[in-house]
Amino acid sequence: MRLLSVRLIVSLILGITLVSLAFSYYQVVQEKRTLRGDLERRAEVLGESLAGNVEKIWGTGSNQALQRLVQRFGNREHLIGVAVYDRRAEVVAMTPELGKMLTASPQALTQALHDNHNESAFVKLGDARILIFALPLHREDELSGGLVIVHDAGYIQAQMLRVWRETFFRVLVQVFLVVFITLLIVRWSISGPIARAAQWMRAMRTGRIPSSQKMPDLDMFRPLAHEVATMAASLSLARNAAENEARLREAGESMWTADRLSVHLQARLAGSRLFVVSNREPYMHQRNGKSLNVVVPPSGLVTALEPVLNACDGTWIAHGSGDADLEAVDGHDRLRVPPDDPRYTLRRVWLNKQEEEGYYYGFSNEGLWPLCHIAHTRPIFRASDWQHYQEVNRKFTDAVLEEIEDTPSPVILVQDYHFALLPQMIKEKRPDARVAIFWHIPWPNPEAFGICPWQRQLVDGLLGADLIGFHVQSHCNNFLQTVDRVVESRVDWEHFSVLRQDHRTMVRPFPISVDLTDDEPAAGSNNESRYIERASLTRTLGIEATFLGIGVDRVDYTKGILERFLAIERFLEKYPAYQGKFTFVQIGAPSRTHLKRYHDLLAEVEAEADRINWRFQSDKWKPIVFLKRQHSHNEITPYYRAADLCMVTSLHDGMNLVAKEFLAARADERGVLILSQFTGAARELRDALLVNPYDIDQSAEAIRVALEMEPEDKQLRVHRMRRTIKEHNIYRWASNLITELCEVRLDATEEEPAKLHANATVA
Ligand code: F6P
Repeated sequence: MRLLSVRLIVSLILGITLVSLAFSYYQVVQEKRTLRGDLERRAEVLGESLAGNVEKIWGTGSNQALQRLVQRFGNREHLIGVAVYDRRAEVVAMTPELGKMLTASPQALTQALHDNHNESAFVKLGDARILIFALPLHREDELSGGLVIVHDAGYIQAQMLRVWRETFFRVLVQVFLVVFITLLIVRWSISGPIARAAQWMRAMRTGRIPSSQKMPDLDMFRPLAHEVATMAASLSLARNAAENEARLREAGESMWTADRLSVHLQARLAGSRLFVVSNREPYMHQRNGKSLNVVVPPSGLVTALEPVLNACDGTWIAHGSGDADLEAVDGHDRLRVPPDDPRYTLRRVWLNKQEEEGYYYGFSNEGLWPLCHIAHTRPIFRASDWQHYQEVNRKFTDAVLEEIEDTPSPVILVQDYHFALLPQMIKEKRPDARVAIFWHIPWPNPEAFGICPWQRQLVDGLLGADLIGFHVQSHCNNFLQTVDRVVESRVDWEHFSVLRQDHRTMVRPFPISVDLTDDEPAAGSNNESRYIERASLTRTLGIEATFLGIGVDRVDYTKGILERFLAIERFLEKYPAYQGKFTFVQIGAPSRTHLKRYHDLLAEVEAEADRINWRFQSDKWKPIVFLKRQHSHNEITPYYRAADLCMVTSLHDGMNLVAKEFLAARADERGVLILSQFTGAARELRDALLVNPYDIDQSAEAIRVALEMEPEDKQLRVHRMRRTIKEHNIYRWASNLITELCEVRLDATEEEPAKLHANATVA
C-alpha cells in the first residue's frame, strides 16, 4: 500500500506539473503576442499622427522646429523617443535619449524606406528590449525620409516572468491539494474498504465470525465484494462440510450432509440425471424499473428442494411465473441457478392466463387444496378447471420429455398436487424413466376424497409413478384405501404398494425436512447477542416488549392464523401481567390473493390483529405486530433467534417446515415451539407443546407454559428436537426417496408377493 501511495504521489506530481506547464506555456505565448500587438498598434497610431506634423514642419525647412517636435516625445509611458531620417537614412532630428541608444540607422527604417511601407521590429540592444517602428515620410508624394518611433518593450519580458512565477506557485499549491485530496479519497474509498474486507476475510478464515455474517459495505467495490462474499461462503461451506464429515466419522454417526448426498446420488444415478418438476419455481425474476430482481417465493417445497438440487445438480422444471422470467432464460427457456452461484438448471414452462387460472388457481387451489386439507373451506370443482389441469399436466409432460430426451433411465421427482396426472403421462412415453411423485399436502380419507368428480383419473395418473411419497404413514394409508375403492388394482398392504396392469407403485412416508447438519453453535447465539438482536428488532418495529413470539406463514386458511390471534387474546385476558410485555410478531406472506377466499382472509387477519391491538395496546406496546409481506430467509432468521416462542397452529398441514426452520435457527437451544397436533411435523417433534388449534384456551395456556418454562426444560426439548431434525434432515429425505426410487424394478413381470389382496372396486 505504501509503495502504491508513493507511486501515486509521484505520478500525480509529474502529471499535474506537466499539464500546468503546458497550459502556462500556451498562456505566456498568447500573452506575449497580445502585449506585443498592443505595443505595435500604439506605435503605429503615434507614428501615423506624428508623420503629418513632421512632413509639414520638414517642408518649411526648419530643422530646429523639427528637433523641438521630436524632443517633446521623450520619457512618455514606454516611449523612449522618436527620430526623423532623410531618405539616405541620415538623422535629421532625434530625441536626445535615443541618440545614446541608436548608434546606427535601424534595420526597420532601411526596410521601410526600401519598401515605402511601415515596418516594425522587436530588437535587443545590450540589455534593453525595444520596439522600433519605422514609417516612410513624403513630400509632394515623393519619399523624403522616415520616421522612427522607439518603445521600451522590456515590460513585456517582465510580465512574462511574472506569469512564470505565478505558474510555479500555482502548480505547487495544486500539487499539494490534489495529492492531499487523492490520498483522502484513496483512504476512504479504496484502502479503507479493502482493509475492512481483508479483516472480514481473515475473521471468516479463522472462524471468528460465522459465514452468515455479512461482509462490510465496500462502497464502490460492491460488485467485487459480492463475488468475494459468495466465494467465502462457498469456502466456508466446504470447510464446515469437511469438519462436519470428520466429526461424524469420529463420532461414528451417519448424518446426511450435502456432500454425502452428492456422492451418494452420483453412485445411485450411475450416469443418469435428476429431474425435478414442480409448479413453483425456486427463483422468480421481477422487473423493477431498470433493474431485474430475483425473488425466492415463500414455499416450503422450494425451501426443501433447493439444497438437494444444489447438492447434485440436475434440472428443475417449473412454471415461469415472474413478470420478467422470460428475459432471464436462454433460447431453450433454461437458466443456471442460484443466480449468485449457479449449480443446477432451471427450465421454465410458460402458462397463459387462462391456463394459470384454471389449473393453478382453479383446480389445484380451489379444488384439490381444500379437498385434501379439510379445513372447512368447501372445494370447488369446475369442469373447465379440470380441463385446464389436464392440459397443463400435458404441457409439463412435454417439457419433461424434451429435457430427458438424451438421458437414459432418467430419475424424475414430480412434486405435489399440481401434477397428479404427470407420472402416467411421462411413463406412457418413457417407460424407462423412474418416476416418483411427492405429495406435499395431506391425503384425506377415501370418503372425503370421494367427493372429487375426477378422483379416478387423479388416482390413475398418480399410479403411473413407480413411487408415491407422503409425509406421514396415515396419508399413505388414506391413499391406499382410496386406491382400494376407486380403481381396479391389487393393494399389497404388507409392502405398501399397488399392482395394476403389470405396474407396481410403491407408497411410502418420507417426512420432509430442512437443511440442518451443523452441530457448531452459530455465532450470535449467546444470550447477550440474542438480547441485542431482539432490542434491534423491537426498535425497528417501534415497540417495547420483554417477551417475543413469532409466527411465519403464507396467509392461508389452513394455517390457523385467526385461531392463533384468538389464543393470544385469551392469554392476555387470562394473564394480564403479560399485558405490556408479550408481543407476537406474525410474518404473513400474502398468497393466492386472486382467489376471493384468500383475499378476504388477508383482510380478516389484518382486522383481527387490529381489533386485539385496539383492545390491549398502550403507548409503546401492542400485542400483535402483523408484517404483511413476504420476507426472505435472512430477514426471518433474526426473528426466529430472538423469539421466546414460535407458534405453528395449522388446522391441517402435510408437514409444516416453519416448525423445523425455527428449531434449525435455535443453535442456542432456547425458545419453545407450540405446534398444532394436526401437522405432519407433530409426529416427529414430540417435545413441542402440542395443541389443538381449535381449542383456544389450550393454545392460550401453551403460551403461558412456554413463557414460564424452566430454561433447562426448554434446552432439553430444543436439543432433542434439533437432534431429530439433524438425523432426519433434507439430505436424508432426498437420499431415502431417490434410493427407494432407484431400487424399483422397472420390469413389470416380477413375481407378486403372496399376500396380495384382490380389490376390484370401481369408482
Ligand atoms: O404445501 C404445499 C405447497 O406446495 C408447499 O410446498 C408450499 O409451501 C405451498 O404449497 C406453496 O403454495 P404456492 O406455490 O401455491 O404459493
